[in-house]
Amino acid sequence: MSRAAEAQVAEVAQDPVLIGEGMTGGYGRGADILHGCTIAVERGKIAVIVGPNGAGKSTAMKAVFGMLNIREGSVRLGGKDITALSPQARVAQGMAFVPQVRNIFPSLSVEENLDMGAFLRRDDISETKAQIFDLFPILKDKRRQAAGELSGGQRQQVAVGRALMTRPEVLMLDEPTAGVSPIVMDELFDRIIEVARTGISILMVEQNARQALEIADVGYVLVQGANAHTGTGAELLSDPVVRRSFLGG
Ligand SMILES: Nc1ncnc2c1ncn2[C@@H]1O[C@H](COP(=O)(O)OP(=O)(O)O)[C@@H](O)[C@H]1O
Ligand SMILES: [Mg+2]
Repeated sequence: MSRAAEAQVAEVAQDPVLIGEGMTGGYGRGADILHGCTIAVERGKIAVIVGPNGAGKSTAMKAVFGMLNIREGSVRLGGKDITALSPQARVAQGMAFVPQVRNIFPSLSVEENLDMGAFLRRDDISETKAQIFDLFPILKDKRRQAAGELSGGQRQQVAVGRALMTRPEVLMLDEPTAGVSPIVMDELFDRIIEVARTGISILMVEQNARQALEIADVGYVLVQGANAHTGTGAELLSDPVVRRSFLGG
């Protein structure tokens, strides 16, 4: 990472609830995909990762969630080093992850999907479920329907709802608006803002870069597995280089 890029990252990652710092690694014995990549989010804030296809955005999310062994760097949650923890142990510590693909159980009903999200909980889940139905009323109407029969936007609501069933501190979303219409995208972003207002931190990858940076407290532009540009959403949206290279002018 260049000095300037490093300084930008240090600026926005001062008191993170979650940080993957200096992450280097790849898949199995393959070549490194991430090269000293740092991603962080502060409490109740929205951090957005953007960048070209194949830049390593999903890989960075997997590294932060423990689905990828990093050779260098560390992941800390609430100041605690969790680099060695399995994904399931990270869920128990307050992380939830909605992956880019296969993020629901299509043959199960909407409600069964939500119940699956709470599999680690031994307490009463009815209040959390009611909150999720308040957030996404359509899921209440369709709770007995197979999740696979829902529209793309509704399926993403199921996936987000399922993740929220663990009552996470940090919610990680990989392209939550993939394949949905602009109106549905705006609605989903509004719901994500609502979730952040309850104090849950959001770390999100988005291909709708411009719209996502509009709601981002912090934005990361990743290129070839490294931090290329970092700043507030507003800073990145007004940066001529970022605009020209990544936002279509
Ligand atoms: N499961 C995997 N095994 C090996 N290589 C992978 C795997 N997933 C992604 N890659 C490679 O890692 C690089 C980054 O991919 P990815 O993180 O999915 O990018 P992005 O999410 O930014 O589009 C690409 O070169 C891709 O081919
Ligand atoms: Mg991806």
